[in-house]
This record gives sequence, structure tokens and C-alpha cells, in this order.
Amino acid sequence: MKNNILITGATGFIGSHLTEMFVRKGLKVVAFDRYNINNDHGWLNKSKFKNKFKIILGDIRDQDSVIKAMKGCDTVIHLAALIGIPYSYVSPLAYVKTNIEGTYNVLEAAKILKLKNIIITSTSEIYGTPKKLPISENDPINCQSPYAATKSSADQLSLSYYKSFNLPVKLIRPFNTYGPRQSNRAIIPTIINQCLKNKNRKIKLGNLNTTRDFNYVEDICNAFYEVYRSKNTFGEILNVGSNTNISVKDLTNKIMKILNVKYKIEIVKERVRPNASEVLHLKCNNNKIKKLTRWRNKTSLIQGLIKTIDWYKKNVTAAGENQNYQI
Ligand SMILES: NC(=O)c1ccc[n+]([C@@H]2O[C@H](COP(=O)([O-])OP(=O)(O)OC[C@H]3O[C@@H](n4cnc5c(N)ncnc54)[C@H](O)[C@@H]3O)[C@@H](O)[C@H]2O)c1
Repeated sequence: MKNNILITGATGFIGSHLTEMFVRKGLKVVAFDRYNINNDHGWLNKSKFKNKFKIILGDIRDQDSVIKAMKGCDTVIHLAALIGIPYSYVSPLAYVKTNIEGTYNVLEAAKILKLKNIIITSTSEIYGTPKKLPISENDPINCQSPYAATKSSADQLSLSYYKSFNLPVKLIRPFNTYGPRQSNRAIIPTIINQCLKNKNRKIKLGNLNTTRDFNYVEDICNAFYEVYRSKNTFGEILNVGSNTNISVKDLTNKIMKILNVKYKIEIVKERVRPNASEVLHLKCNNNKIKKLTRWRNKTSLIQGLIKTIDWYKKNVTAAGENQNYQI
């Protein structure tokens, strides 16, 4: 066993935390992300572990660059994807190419190179508004955006490789993830940044009644680690979430309470998703991952929010207030 792990999407939000966590655990990581002319390594640019992992820039849509990056690895954790829901309304084909063809490239390369452990990242968005809560892995799939549809297609393709070619695939399905380094487009950073940079004492949001199961990024990375080392999860789909949920309104009030501010919440049209595309409620049934692995979620929402707010206070970027956020 070589224990060389290729992480795709490694310079992004979850991928950068995962890369650093795996390196801290003494594992050998090859970090893969999109080629750019500036040789920008995203959130790994200033990583204190930079000399402890290898970075390869390429393109998940390009089979050659995926194969080259994967050579010498026995595990791949595939996170690279286009993830913004609003942009998936504008440019669905880009999502097909990155999320479906990109996953095909990972699976095919892993088949050719005979990898032993292939972890594919799904998303809770594929469940859409469910008939019942909490949601378990066998519940119906109901894709309400091109993003969700491409992720779900990639899931099915991955499971088909397990069934057809005996490829050792595991499918991890995180519910909403938050924490330091997340894009301002996500709901928690947009609320925090609006509170921190507030000039007009208003928080601009969309639907306040939607609920989500929010998970601190370290808990999600721990789930990747436990799934990585488990032997009994091949061919399985594993939901990862806290089995709690909170509405956007209550979440905003919690964040304001931590920051000791009280702003008026204003609903703005451009922040509301098209009606039939709005996923109203998500809450994870996490029994399966708890039964099959040693994973447990450890960070309460309050603890995670405090850590996240501290990070944004030190890393205030362009405020999210004019951005079209998603949850
Ligand atoms: N953030 C969440 O709440 C959440 C929840 C469930 C699932 N996920 C999944 O987790 C994964 C990581 O999401 P994230 O939140 O870290 O997003 P992110 O946008 O920070 O990370 C995605 C990474 O993929 C890379 N990428 C995009 N196109 C690429 C290409 N053509 N070639 C190579 N790399 C490319 C991006 O550069 C980026 O670094 C995604 O698969 C996403 O669907 C995220």
C-alpha cells in the first residue's frame, strides 16, 4: 500500500482543509486543482504545510491531466466541481462538463491505474425538498437545479463503475458545510460579512424560512478521513450531516447575537431562487455513516459559528452584501 492520495479540488474551501488535515495525519497528498497562468494555489498558497505535499495544476475536464496527476496514487478523493447554484442556471453545460465529464475522467483514470480507494463527493442538494425529514440515503432524488442534476448524474456514474467494473468506489454526501475560507456566496459568510461591513444596518437575504443542516468543515473533513480508512463502505452512499436543521432567519439571529448587533433583515428579490428550484428543507439522517464508520460530528453550530466569525474578522474580504448568495 503506497498511501498516496490524490485530492481533486484541493485548493478550494473543503479541499484545502482536507489536504492540510491529511498532511497533519502524516499521509502523502497530491493536491490537484485547475491550471491558471498565475500559478495560483488558492487557499493552499500560504499553507504552512506547503513543503509537505505536491501540487499539480491541470483540468478535471481533461483526461490526460487527470491520468498524469493520478499516476503513483492508490487513493483519489474527488472534490473538484462547479458548485454555485445561481451560475448553474446561467451556464448548465459548464456543469455537465466539469461535474459529469470530470467525474468520468476520475473514474476512468482510476480504473486504468487500478486505484484501491475512490471517494466521490456528492451533495445533499440532490434530494431537493424532501417528503420527510431527516433524509436517509434511500430517500428519493429530486434535482431542482442544473448543479444538483449534474452532481446526481456523477453519483450514478460512479455507482455504475462499482457495479460494472468492481471499481472500489465510495460515495460521500455532505450536507451544507461552512467554516473559514468559504466563498462569500454561501449563506453563512454572506450573513457574517454583511454584519461585519454593515453600513446601512440592514441584512439583505432571500427566503428566510428555508432550513439547512449546517456542518463545520472540520467535521466534514473528519468524515472523509473515516470513510477513507473504512473497509466496509465500498459501493455505499454515506450521508454526512448533524441531524439538526435551522432556518435562515434563526441562523441570522444567532450570528447577530454572537456579534452583538441587531440589524433589520430585508428580503431582496434577486436573492430568492426560482420557486420550483428552491430546496425548502434539508436535514440529514446520519445513522448509516455512524454505523459503518467511527465518524461522529463534534462541533455544535454555536462553536462552529464562533470559530468562523473569528476567522472572517481577521480576513475581511469584499463584503458579500451585493452578491447573489446560495445555501
Ligand atoms: N460547500 C458545501 O456546502 C458542499 C456541500 C456538499 C457537497 N459539496 C461538494 O464538495 C466539493 C467541494 O466544494 P467546495 O465547497 O470546497 O467548493 P470550492 O468551489 O471551494 O471547491 C471546488 C474546487 O474545484 C476546483 N475546480 C473547478 N473546476 C475545475 C476544473 N475544471 N479542473 C480542476 N479543478 C476544478 C475549483 O478550482 C475549486 O478549488 C464539491 O464537489 C461540492 O459539490 C460542498
